[in-house]
Amino acid sequence: MTAPGSTAPGSTAPGSTAPGSTAPVPSIEFEAVSFSYPDGTRALSNVGLAIGPGESVAIVGQNGSGKSTLVRHLNGLLRPTAGRVLLDGRDVRPIHVARLAGLVGLAFQNPDRQLFAGRVSAEAAFGPRNLGIRGQELDERVRAALEDVGLAAEAATTPYDLGYSSRKLLALASVLAMRTPILVLDEPTTGQDARGVARVREVVARAAGEGRTLIAISHDMRFVAESFRRVVVMREGRVVLDGAPDVVFAETAWGDLRASYLEPPLPAVAGARLGLGSTPTDAAFVAALAAGGAPRAGRGRGRGRGCGGGRGQLADRGPGCGGGRGPLADRGQ
Ligand SMILES: Nc1ncnc2c1ncn2[C@@H]1O[C@H](COP(=O)(O)OP(=O)(O)OP(=O)(O)O)[C@@H](O)[C@H]1O
Ligand SMILES: [Mg+2]
Repeated sequence: MTAPGSTAPGSTAPGSTAPGSTAPVPSIEFEAVSFSYPDGTRALSNVGLAIGPGESVAIVGQNGSGKSTLVRHLNGLLRPTAGRVLLDGRDVRPIHVARLAGLVGLAFQNPDRQLFAGRVSAEAAFGPRNLGIRGQELDERVRAALEDVGLAAEAATTPYDLGYSSRKLLALASVLAMRTPILVLDEPTTGQDARGVARVREVVARAAGEGRTLIAISHDMRFVAESFRRVVVMREGRVVLDGAPDVVFAETAWGDLRASYLEPPLPAVAGARLGLGSTPTDAAFVAALAAGGAPRAGRGRGRGRGCGGGRGQLADRGPGCGGGRGPLADRGQ
């Protein structure tokens, strides 16, 4: 696990340009950032976080832990009360919001705070048009973005006639159409059915494959574990864990996760129980179960840290707990 503030491996070279993106991909650094809202609510306390070009990072944490406040600093919507936010080592404070918009695309947690145009296509065109894109290129960007989120057939629809999940996807499309080197998605899977989640996963995978920096806030631990190479856990305005999913969701970190009111993803719990580690593949599961993979506690190794007498929800009802009474245990024995 990397210490909060360090850069995890796997990023592209500083200043490299993501395919399809017009600007080089800048590094991001939050340098001892604190932020209080005008009413005095302290939302961030001394956050140190470095994100290299091309990293894909999930930010997780309980409600009100400061996730949205943190990412709103990236496009100039908020400015730190103390500390600095740096892009490629340069303080963003003097950078005009219009220029920042070409570097950082932020899909809002609440799409209704983002959407305003009269038609879906106009909504998706707004961002790139503001960046000076016109004509065929603009049309192509709008078409591709709407296609990516499955809204191509709704181009002429009024955004407010769409359901919540589609409005969320439209907010995502409007940001995709800007083709910014940094993409920030605030809870992109909220309200999505399996198909919507699959679309978001594809968008995330494509952005990562193109070398863009991708930051997504999510409460969906499975999405996080499967789609991101780095997970940052926030609690009460601070970064409390920062590392690869297999480390952050490892059994040794469950106590910290539970203290942040987060449940490790089910595969992590079941994987630990079956001795497959915290990010097992479906194939590994199938193989372990087919081989009669007895849950670990059932093989006499004693209960894991997350089982029996634990304080968190997982400890009480996870499939890795209960001395072999869970469905996995039943199947595995
Ligand atoms: N506009 C605002 N004015 C005052 N306080 C605010 C404002 N927006 C957020 N807060 C407070 O700042 C803190 C951090 O909020 P933030 O929205 O960043 O958390 P979050 O981690 O994104 O939560 P959630 O998971 O619910 O979206 C919370 O205490 C919240 O109530
Ligand atoms: Mg939020």
